[in-house]
Amino acid sequence: MNVPLLASAEGERADRDAFRRDVLAGLAASPRAIPAKYLYDERGSALFDEICDQPEYYPTRTEAAILRQHAAEIARLAGPGCALVEYGSGSSVKTRLLLEAMTDLHAYVPIDISRQHLEATARRLREDYPGLRVDPVTADYMALHALPDTIGKARRIGFFPGSTIGNLMPEEAVLFLRRARRLLRADGALVLGVDLKKTPQQLHDAYNDAAGVTAQFTLNLLRRMNRELEANFDLSAFAHDASYNEVAGRIEIYFRSLRDQIVSVGGRRFQFARGERVHTEYSYKYAQAEISELARRGGLSVASSWTDPSRLFSVAFLT
Ligand code: AVJ
Repeated sequence: MNVPLLASAEGERADRDAFRRDVLAGLAASPRAIPAKYLYDERGSALFDEICDQPEYYPTRTEAAILRQHAAEIARLAGPGCALVEYGSGSSVKTRLLLEAMTDLHAYVPIDISRQHLEATARRLREDYPGLRVDPVTADYMALHALPDTIGKARRIGFFPGSTIGNLMPEEAVLFLRRARRLLRADGALVLGVDLKKTPQQLHDAYNDAAGVTAQFTLNLLRRMNRELEANFDLSAFAHDASYNEVAGRIEIYFRSLRDQIVSVGGRRFQFARGERVHTEYSYKYAQAEISELARRGGLSVASSWTDPSRLFSVAFLT
């Protein structure tokens, strides 16, 4: 009992140190930026789930509908006895849509950076699918080079839903696909969810919901810095700032200072001018042809793809 507790306390300290290091570096840089992964503390993850329920935020429910409609075909393309490898085992809802269609899976291998999250997911799935072998891997999927031996020779089917690939710069997305190709091997495949280009108004609304949940999600990062890094951000003196950059094809998200002010973070003082912004996220949007091009550069090709009637979102089967 002692050992895991100790290990997790050490893990927490290491996480805190990395957060401090990245925030201090990001605020010292010009332009200022903080990596998007830090948005997802416990409260941030709960807020993201709430974003997914907002009427303006179409990606989650649209992708789920596509998966629901085409799960049987995906299962047929994957073939029998394969291993389903999920990158960043987030929403178990989408996973379950595939698990229910892939009835004779050799194993389900969720990869996640959060061990706690992963253990909880694994426990629930083992309960709900008694015959299913669940082999979780705690890792950063950008840096993962091997999967558990228990997978054996099973065909490896990757699953990267939610348009999380949109958080990556296009060059990083290509790098991700190349790594996935190597990890999933020559006979493997990747089921990839990608948010499609659409009118700037629709995109703007999806990241500026009327209920202000996305704003809370962005500003939760300030709350987290206050709590974990002894910062003193005044949450009423900053605003969520999300807009669609049509030239770059991406949503850009920042927090913006509403006045000239000085904030302490981790024992250092940072000056913010009124209107100054700190970048937190990109969310790239792709046209169908751009998805094919991305796949090609990653050494893969689009074997099949599915979309919804309004062409908001795409799920592609890459081989
Ligand atoms: C989880 C990265 C896919 O980019 O749409 C949603 C994150 N941020 N609203 C996205 C997000 C603000 C989301 N991804």
